[in-house]
This record gives sequence, C-alpha cells and structure tokens, in this order.
Amino acid sequence: MMILTKFLKFRINTIQVNEKPFQICLFARKVSKLIDGKKIAQDIQKEIRDDIDQWVSQGHRPPCLIAVLVGEDPASKKYVENKMIAAQNVGIVSRTINLPSTISEQEIISQIYKLNKDPSVDGILVQLPVPEHVSERNVCNSVDPRKDVDGFHILNMGKLAINMDTFVPATALGVIELIKRSNIKTFGKNIVVCGRSKNVGLPIALLLHSDARNDCPGLEATVTLCHRHTPSEELEFFAKRADIIISATGVVNLIKPDMVKPGACIIDVGITRITTESGKTKLVGDVDFDGVSHVAGYITPVPGGVGPMTVAMLMHNTFKAAKALANDVIV
Ligand code: GUN
Repeated sequence: MMILTKFLKFRINTIQVNEKPFQICLFARKVSKLIDGKKIAQDIQKEIRDDIDQWVSQGHRPPCLIAVLVGEDPASKKYVENKMIAAQNVGIVSRTINLPSTISEQEIISQIYKLNKDPSVDGILVQLPVPEHVSERNVCNSVDPRKDVDGFHILNMGKLAINMDTFVPATALGVIELIKRSNIKTFGKNIVVCGRSKNVGLPIALLLHSDARNDCPGLEATVTLCHRHTPSEELEFFAKRADIIISATGVVNLIKPDMVKPGACIIDVGITRITTESGKTKLVGDVDFDGVSHVAGYITPVPGGVGPMTVAMLMHNTFKAAKALANDVIV
C-alpha cells in the first residue's frame, strides 16, 4: 500500500503566550491509502510461480490453461492476451483457441467437449461476452466443472452459494484477497456491494457474508447488495453506513464523496473507457476517485486495482485445478 493523498484536517490547540492562553489553529495531515492491486497481484503471481516450480520439480507436468475467444472484440482480445502473459510468467502452459463470431453455439460446445476430454488440459475458460446468438449459460455449463477455472459452471456456483470449497470466480476472489492482504477487517462490518451480476457482484456478496464454519474462509460481514433498481437515496443511505463499499456496475461516478463514511474502504471493480475533453481515451471505474480519496481510508485505483487481481486469481484457480486433477480429487 502506498500513501496516496494528504489532506488537511484542522485542530484548535491552546498554548501560553506571555502567560496568557492563546489559541492556535493546527493543521494535521490525514492520510488515505491506495490499495495497490498491481503490486499485490505481482506478489501473488510470484508465490504461484514458486509453488508451480516446486510442483514441477516433484515430477508433475506444468499446469495447462486453454482460453476460448469467440469473435474479434478488442477488449476481450486484450484481456485474454494479459491472461496468457500471466500464465507464461507463472509457469502455466497456455493456448488461445480463436473462433469466428459467426460460429454456432453447438460448435463452440463441441470444441469445449474436446478440451474436457483432453488429459493434457487442466483449465478451460471461455472469454465473455459471447456473441448474442450464443447462450452464455449453455457454454459455461459445457465446461467440465473440474476444469472450470472461471467458476461459472452451475455446479461450482451452487457450491459457492453453500460455502463449499470450489473454483471461486477470479474477480470475486481477487476482491477478497485485496481486502485480506490489506488487513481490512470484515467480521461484523457493514459492506455494500453495488451490482448483482452472476459472475462478479453476486459471488462477492456470497463470500463476504459467509460464515467460517464451512469449507470457505468466512468473512462474516453484514452485506447489502444494491443494483440498478435500488433507488439512489437508498443506495446513499446504505453506502453512508458502510465500512466497505464494493462497486461493480460500470456506472461512472456512481460513488461520490458525500456517500462515503470517513475512513471507509472503497473497492472499485468498474472499468469503463471514456473519452476526455482533449479527445484521449482512458479507463475509469465507478468511483469518483479524486473526490472519494479525500474521505475514504483505503481506495483501489482504476486501472491497477482489481483488474490485475482477476488475472492472478485465474492463475491460482488453474494451479488448483491441475493439482486436483493430478490427485484425482474433486474441488
Ligand atoms: N469477461 C469479463 N470478465 C471475465 C472473466 O473473469 N472471465 C471470463 N471468461 N470472461 C470475462
């Protein structure tokens, strides 16, 4: 974590001047901290690299991850590229299967079935979104649950819902890991999650409210899940009481400084590409970063916050799949 901002908070002190009380105004620096997702993700990748080196030195083959990319969406291509680079860095063998956007759902599923049967493949991910004529749910359910490193198969989603050990969707796992590694307490805390997507908001909420009596590490928070039909005054009501706000909506500037409790932790999962007044494009999150960083205790940047964590946790899931398959156990 780095020191991000220093803002001034005044305090009145009384001193003695010529034996008379004299009031002076002191300015104290208040500090909010940047949660450096890029650095934390690098640390995690280093740990995974060491573990994989040890795994391979014990005589196992390196883990293998296959990405299926349907169509030409530039953002999806970039995400898959980043995943492949990370895989190489940690010692995971990886390959991308590029399929045309006109391909039928059945043909995509046939490709996935081949990968399911291939004993040299440990992890399979289908980059989302898929073209409109293809059912995302059918595609996700066609991946062998033991190779489902995205955690999007209904079986793995169901296990997550009842706190069983499973493949947790990488972004959700990344958010939890950021919170843990930044020593932010969740036990009994109020947490607002904005966005209820099945792959991000919902699994984050499931993990945060989980209890510690089952397979998954319980985070024991009181969770409020807000979404597009939460009235803005209600969102503000819940957000102002939250010790942690996690926003995953893609709505730019959804979280403003006057909605944030001083000292709260803000995790921004949103990524939107905007064009600035000067005509340049840049990535921004859901949070008014400049304003909120003067109120929050902790904040993640965009880019460089949750994004790199998603990639690191995908590597974690791929190694987990490889170990489970090699030992013939079900995650
Ligand atoms: N598209 C956006 N995020 C993700 C992700 O985490 N996994 C996959 N497969 N596709 C995505």
